Amino acid sequence: MSKLKIGVLASGRGSNFQSIIDEIKSKRLNAKIALLITDNPLAFAIERAKKHGIDYLVMMPKEFRSKDDFFIKIAEELKKRHVELVVLAGFMRIVRKPLIDAFPNRIMNIHPALLPAFPGLHGQKQALEYGAKISGCTVHFVDERMDTGPIIIQAAVPVLKDDTEESLSERILKLEHKIYPEAIRLYSEGRIEVRGRVVNIKGYNFSEAFITNPDVKKNPE
Ligand code: GRF
Repeated sequence: MSKLKIGVLASGRGSNFQSIIDEIKSKRLNAKIALLITDNPLAFAIERAKKHGIDYLVMMPKEFRSKDDFFIKIAEELKKRHVELVVLAGFMRIVRKPLIDAFPNRIMNIHPALLPAFPGLHGQKQALEYGAKISGCTVHFVDERMDTGPIIIQAAVPVLKDDTEESLSERILKLEHKIYPEAIRLYSEGRIEVRGRVVNIKGYNFSEAFITNPDVKKNPE
């Protein structure tokens, strides 16, 4: 099977970007990252791209006449490289119509909460302050609104009594790094079907694998 061509959009540290790179390197994901686009010249994601020989572009909205023009250019750059799936990995902007229309149901995002709960910024802090007892992360397709597109995979973690925003974020991030590459793998295998807002994954068993506390060993010695 030919490799899925991926384009990644990131604004910051890029640990999810790294988890995808690692999954490809270990051959668990049959894909190639054709391009990283960042809107932040200081993003650590750039260092990761350089280290792994991945092409990257720094593009900032202020260099364009309008936000739509910015996204038109992003779509052009991705199309030029025959990108099939666009992966948002900590991209801190709402994607606009020109990019969504260029890649319908072919843009994924990861959010650090169990959507539809706690959309927007600081999903982990929102869950803590609300008093949620379970939170987690969600991989979803991107539509024109924030964090509302069809849900692909979710993973849950407990919110512990003494959690801070940092400790909860860390626990959730461990699962982000598992489910994001997993969602991309399912996509690359042609197993994701979208009907309306419901995603069906062919032959997939949502086992306890994704409802777990990564901090607790299953079989403590
Ligand atoms: C992650 O928490 C992700 O869920 C959110 O932004 C953060 C990005 O982290 N969308 P990183 O840049 O991938 O390390």
